[in-house]
Amino acid sequence: MKNNKLIAPSILAADFANLQRDIEMVNSSKADWFHIDIMDGVFVPNISFGMPVLDAINKHAKKTIDVHLMIVDPDRYINTFADLGADVLTVHYEACTHLHRTLQAIKAAGMKAGVALNPHTNVSLLEDVIQDIDLICVMSVNPGFGGQSFIENTYRKVGQLKEMILNKNASTLIEIDGGVTDKNAHELVKAGADVLVAGSFVFKSNDPLSTIEDLKNLANN
Ligand code: DX5
Ligand code: ZN
Repeated sequence: MKNNKLIAPSILAADFANLQRDIEMVNSSKADWFHIDIMDGVFVPNISFGMPVLDAINKHAKKTIDVHLMIVDPDRYINTFADLGADVLTVHYEACTHLHRTLQAIKAAGMKAGVALNPHTNVSLLEDVIQDIDLICVMSVNPGFGGQSFIENTYRKVGQLKEMILNKNASTLIEIDGGVTDKNAHELVKAGADVLVAGSFVFKSNDPLSTIEDLKNLANN
C-alpha cells in the first residue's frame, strides 16, 4: 500500500515559546502523528513537560496524538492521558512489572497500546505479549534527550521484530524513535519500520514542512 508509512514529528524539539505555530505547521504538513515525549526525571535523566502542556497541544492538534511515557509506574496515569487526548499510549518495557495488565488497562481506557524498548532490551522479551501490543517503539537512542545519534544495531532489532510479528500473525506497528534523518529513513522502512519519529531533524531544519515531506517520500518510495 502506498503512503502507509507514517511520520511522527516529536514535539520535544519544537519551539515552546511558539508551540501553537509549530503545532499548526504539523497540522498543515504531510506528517501523520504528533509524537509527545513525557519524561519524569526518574526513569530518564531529564524532565520534559506534563499535563497542562499536553492539554494545550491537544486543543490545536488535528492528527493522532502518540504519547511516549518515559516514566516509572505508568499505570498511575493511564486514565489521565486518555482524558488529555492521547490516541496511542506507549509505556516502557523496563518500567512495567505487569506489562500484560498495563496493556489491557490502556486499551480499556480507549487508546492503542504501545511498548517502548530501550536499546539494550532484546525484542524476544515481547514474544508472549505481541498479540496484545498495537505498537512497538524501538528506541534508536537512549531515551531522555533529543538530538542524539542513531544506534546502528536498530536495523537488526527491527528485522527480528518484523519476523516475530509475521510469525505470530500480529498486526503490531513498529515505530523508530531517536536520531531519524534522511540518511536512515528509507533503510528503516526497508527493515520493517511503519512509523518514524523525528524531532531535531524536523524542527531544527530551515524548512520543517519540506523536511517532513522529504521524510514521508523517503519512507514510502
Ligand atoms: C528521546 C525521545 C524522542 C526524541 C527524538 O527520548 O523519545 O522522541 O524527541 O528526538 P530526535 O529525533 O532529535 O532524536
Ligand atoms: Zn519519543
